[in-house]
Amino acid sequence: MSKKLEGKIALVTGGTTGIGLATAQRFAEEGAHVYVTGRRQAELDKAVALVGNATGVAVDSTRLEQLDELYARIRDAHGHLDVLFANAGGGSMLPLGEITEEHYDDTFDRNVKGVLFTVQKALPLLAAKASIILTGSTAGSSGTAAFSVYSASKAAVRAFARSWILDLKGRDIRVNTISPGATRTPGLVDLAGPDAQQQQGLLDYLASQVPLGRVGEPVEIANAAVFLASDDSSFVNGAELFVDGGQAQI
Ligand SMILES: NC(=O)c1ccc[n+]([C@@H]2O[C@H](COP(=O)([O-])OP(=O)(O)OC[C@H]3O[C@@H](n4cnc5c(N)ncnc54)[C@H](OP(=O)(O)O)[C@@H]3O)[C@@H](O)[C@H]2O)c1
Repeated sequence: MSKKLEGKIALVTGGTTGIGLATAQRFAEEGAHVYVTGRRQAELDKAVALVGNATGVAVDSTRLEQLDELYARIRDAHGHLDVLFANAGGGSMLPLGEITEEHYDDTFDRNVKGVLFTVQKALPLLAAKASIILTGSTAGSSGTAAFSVYSASKAAVRAFARSWILDLKGRDIRVNTISPGATRTPGLVDLAGPDAQQQQGLLDYLASQVPLGRVGEPVEIANAAVFLASDDSSFVNGAELFVDGGQAQI
């Protein structure tokens, strides 16, 4: 069977662990050369070894000069980019009443500012038929206790896609949002702290809220990202694809 991303140049931000790593692996299996980013060099080196057909670049997506350097490298090596998965992000929990300026800035810088400039600075490199995929969240369209700042930041991500498809009209570039539900990643289990029992307790609780009765695995989000990255989704634009076991539909 032919590969879905043969010869494509892809970028996965936050591609060193969790959903980003699984997606970088799937993109490479489908024939793409994958640039992966993250802030921690050791995680980046491990990810490049796992992905294989990959280049790792240490980038903090909230630092615009680092994004410039990343895109200069891709431009010099390939001259264009076919697939952009703006996935780097995450959050922490604080209830209203305890929210700090630092918590707000960290969450919005990573999930909103980082995504905005990751996409905007890629525009000169994006080829015709390029696919931009943003990582939203089920939290962007429902309430979660102590997670309001994260939820608001993911609602902003989903709103970006709606307007960007209009700004990009005529360029033959698609923008879609993939919204995972609870997915077994380091970023998720860390919300419960370092204790393994508490982490399992969080996963069990989250699984009980999902119609399919379990949390997602990173590769299940990655498989949906392959669909949005490839020509299989050639007329899908501005959509929000929930990959959540049904959680956002109830
Ligand atoms: N897991 C879930 O249940 C779930 C559900 C819905 C949405 N999401 C979203 O899915 C995306 C991936 O999360 P995950 O669960 O896979 O978490 P993860 O395992 O913590 O992975 C996050 C990745 O992003 C990188 N990253 C974080 N901040 C960054 C920054 N400022 N610049 C560059 N890289 C950065 C991390 O590497 P460094 O720390 O080394 O930079 C890592 O590679 C996030 O946008 C998250 O909000 C996750």
